[in-house]
Amino acid sequence: MNDQLIIFDTTLRDGEQSPGASMTREEKLRIARQLERMRVDVIEAGFAAASNGDFEAVRAIAEAVKESTVCSLARANENDIRRAGEAIRPAARGRIHTFIATSPIHMEKKLRMTPDQVVEQAVKAIGWAREYTDDVEFSAEDAGRSEIDFLCRIFEAVIKAGATTINVPDTVGYNVPEQFAATIATLIARVPGSDKVVWSVHCHNDLGLAVANSLAAVMVGARQVECTVNGLGERAGNASLEEVVMAVRTRRDVFVCDTRIDATQIVPASKLVSGVTGFPVQPNKAIVGANAFSHESGIHQDGVLKHRETYEIMRAEDVGWGANKLVLGKHSGRNAFRTRLQEIGVFIQSEEHLNHAFARFKELADKKHEIFDEDLHAMMSDEDVTPEQEHFRLVASCFHSETGETPGAQLTLTADGKEVRAAAKGSGPVDAAFKAIESIAHSGTELLLYSVNAITTGTDAQGEVTVRLARDDRVVNGQGADTDIIVASVKAYLNALNKLHDNRERLNPQGQV
Ligand code: KIV
Ligand code: ZN
Repeated sequence: MNDQLIIFDTTLRDGEQSPGASMTREEKLRIARQLERMRVDVIEAGFAAASNGDFEAVRAIAEAVKESTVCSLARANENDIRRAGEAIRPAARGRIHTFIATSPIHMEKKLRMTPDQVVEQAVKAIGWAREYTDDVEFSAEDAGRSEIDFLCRIFEAVIKAGATTINVPDTVGYNVPEQFAATIATLIARVPGSDKVVWSVHCHNDLGLAVANSLAAVMVGARQVECTVNGLGERAGNASLEEVVMAVRTRRDVFVCDTRIDATQIVPASKLVSGVTGFPVQPNKAIVGANAFSHESGIHQDGVLKHRETYEIMRAEDVGWGANKLVLGKHSGRNAFRTRLQEIGVFIQSEEHLNHAFARFKELADKKHEIFDEDLHAMMSDEDVTPEQEHFRLVASCFHSETGETPGAQLTLTADGKEVRAAAKGSGPVDAAFKAIESIAHSGTELLLYSVNAITTGTDAQGEVTVRLARDDRVVNGQGADTDIIVASVKAYLNALNKLHDNRERLNPQGQV
């Protein structure tokens, strides 16, 4: 049995289907570069036919990423597949991932197709996809509730048609490990040509079993796991990349395979995805939670001090904790700044963009002596709005908060190049600031989320704020970072408004298909 487990990351596609997790093209690119740095084998960059924005994002990732295969999802129809094929064309290695539902309930109620028609459509889909690439993946949507004989039939047909990876999704997270492993083992044993393809699994977490089901499948021969950073994804999410990777690495005795992943990039990836989407990571989350490696009880602390392995099965530094090097300071020059941004995957569009970012860096270095990678990521998090797209900009602010007084905010902004002022009272300075902004912007949006995170330790840490705004069918996340969390909040709110204001920005992903 092959001992390489392929890691197929779908943070940018299934992960983005989490309500509110939609990302801009720049944000997707930033995450894709981090996934490449982490040595993910396949990056599912999006669903090219969902919208022009999705198409552009997949294409941009296909152009930028060289070390990982770049994949687009496509339903099993000609239009979707041709869009996917065009979007991945620039990739060094491109894959089309096409799918059609195979469970009785999906075929009858959703597709309104007979099983024969489904097989015929799947075979045609593989033929169209093979016109663009010889790396074609087929998924039987809702395989977890499909009949085994029908799965054998459709998989045999698509393998004959040229599919090279066969994916078995537990779309609604219904399976349990023993049963799921038995399904995979049966498929591998019964489907003619099964030894010519990679068997893949894609598990959802509705019963909290996505990782367990994926690992059970690996034990019987699955050699690709589809997963997401932080387990992001539809409803309860997908199998979490970090848990799958560290389980097979820590228990090589059980899994007899390993991944190519550079595990030291796991925590930076987790922080990046959490910052961009505004989905915080729970402190007790395995591998990437803030408490995942901290020992509170005296007995544990004593044990770890005497011999680390008494209570630790992995080393925090091996998954990227504590790797936040002091990178830059007040006296660092433009070149050092530019090089470090490149190293951490932040893309600088032009010299003008670099000058703008460098000026912000100097401002931050005046307030904060030690600048870490996380600070740079946070500082650049609102830079996906270019100066031309920056309809609203913060010029100056003054906040008032005093015991017994109603908090207030006074802001000076530029709106479409003109300077405007506003003042408002609120239940706190953030509330007052948002009201002041709205007295200028009249955006008609609903605030869906407001979250603040300290980026590094210490009271001089930057606060990173995420604001999620919705208007009609559009949902955008805005980010802002500053050592003053009220200023960070204002920046995040304006960043979200600028994204909404920019009509080139994509609509809610997958919402239109
Ligand atoms: O959950 C699912 O079935 C999917 C497929 C498109 C692979 O995401
Ligand atoms: Zn899925």
